[in-house]
Amino acid sequence: MPDEKRLAREAFAEELRSNPTSLESFFNRYAGLMAYYRCAMMEIETKFNVLNEEFSLRYDRNPIQDIRSRLKSPRSIYRKLQKKELEVTPEHIEEHLTDVAGVRVICAFLADVYLLADALLGQDDITLIEKKDYIQNPKPNGYRSLHLIVTVPIFLAQEKRLMKVEIQLRTLSMDSWASLEHQLCYKKDAEFTDRMRAELYRCAELSAELDEKMDCLRKQTNIDEE
Ligand code: GTP
Ligand code: MG
Repeated sequence: MPDEKRLAREAFAEELRSNPTSLESFFNRYAGLMAYYRCAMMEIETKFNVLNEEFSLRYDRNPIQDIRSRLKSPRSIYRKLQKKELEVTPEHIEEHLTDVAGVRVICAFLADVYLLADALLGQDDITLIEKKDYIQNPKPNGYRSLHLIVTVPIFLAQEKRLMKVEIQLRTLSMDSWASLEHQLCYKKDAEFTDRMRAELYRCAELSAELDEKMDCLRKQTNIDEE
């Protein structure tokens, strides 16, 4: 077993021996917090499903192709807090991480990305914390998507809590580029030359061209007329 893993396991066993109640309390609070994040993802998913339903009634088409949600893994939470030199506590997770709950919305056309983002942000229980438009301003590697960090209320028996959710809106072609790029670059130690990087960037440009052409075709049809 690698040293790092063995030490972590020993530290955990020692903490459990010397302070079982505090560890149990930590896990209870951690599990509770993750349940709140799951509820927040459900709220956001429902909001998008409602918008999709309304659109489908009005125009007889679905702007949303797929919705995927994920909860950040304990390992990623631990690593991100460690990078920020913060102890892993439920308070630090809530205060310093904005991507514990993540919802990815795959849209049909480019225009649908902004239509859905605007419709969500127009709702009076949603507060925008941060917007990063990597479609207008793609990342240097070519990555495109619209990222929103919002708070959404969840209503519990005794209280209302505002939870942060990271939302990524992108088209099918942005999604396929990002998924493949992630696979290609996942093993960071793999040899990735400048020429390969340039080719990947070219693929991102082609994907952007495809989105623009498809959106142009959409505008020439009457599919968005009531
Ligand atoms: P993280 O610390 O990774 O969360 O980055 P950040 O806080 O600067 O946020 P940003 O909005 O830039 O990116 C958040 C998420 O967007 C990532 O976790 C990925 O899911 C996605 N993402 C961002 N950049 C890329 C990229 O270059 N390629 C791929 N495939 N996904 C990306
Ligand atoms: Mg992230």
